[in-house]
Amino acid sequence: MLPAPGVVRDLFGDRTAVIEQYAEILAGRGIEWGLLGPREADRIWDRHILNSAALASLVSENATVVDVGSGAGLPGIPLAIARPDLRVTCIEPLLRRANFLELAIEELDLSDRVTVVRDRAEDHRSSYDVVTSRALAPLDKLVRWSWPLVTAGGAVLAIKGASAGEEVIRHERSLTRQKLMAEVLSVRASPDAEPATVVRIRRR
Ligand SMILES: C[S@@+](CC[C@H](N)C(=O)[O-])C[C@H]1O[C@@H](n2cnc3c(N)ncnc32)[C@H](O)[C@@H]1O
Repeated sequence: MLPAPGVVRDLFGDRTAVIEQYAEILAGRGIEWGLLGPREADRIWDRHILNSAALASLVSENATVVDVGSGAGLPGIPLAIARPDLRVTCIEPLLRRANFLELAIEELDLSDRVTVVRDRAEDHRSSYDVVTSRALAPLDKLVRWSWPLVTAGGAVLAIKGASAGEEVIRHERSLTRQKLMAEVLSVRASPDAEPATVVRIRRR
């Protein structure tokens, strides 16, 4: 379903044509290459783009961002288009997905500030202000992969499903032992958009 034109313009401003082009890439090559299921074509905007762009309000200005397990670029690419001040690195270990990302970033003319690294998060050796992910892994594994990539004072922002709160409770003691705290946030890309559930992890 297409969002109201005002919603897209409010979020993406003069990059509206760029996010529309990305939506077309997802609905076309994204499905052809098997990165998204065939039934996703009608859900590209609400389930994928607006859900990803919900993170925009949680990232500080000029932050460096790494999107772990980026797949087709979610949430990294919509976030980068919504926020032209950010530098975004998309980490993706699978060749076909990394190739998809390279091609999309080139076509969207984002190569000056969005890059792809074909790697597993646990083998990557840089650090960033914000580590994003969506549908990456259970919380304990997600923290093991993501936290080593966070700079001092930074945060992990993980888009999760409805059971995020239960997961946080289940792993509370382990997080506390690591001197971490997790909050479950419900954020919307725009007032009419479906809320995204985000687990934000920071140093205690
Ligand atoms: C369920 S998909 C989610 C993709 C995308 N984030 C989305 O929301 O559509 C999980 C992604 O994590 C990637 N992945 C799996 N293990 C990983 C690891 N150790 N480090 C980084 N990414 C990994 C997979 O290749 C896959 O693209």
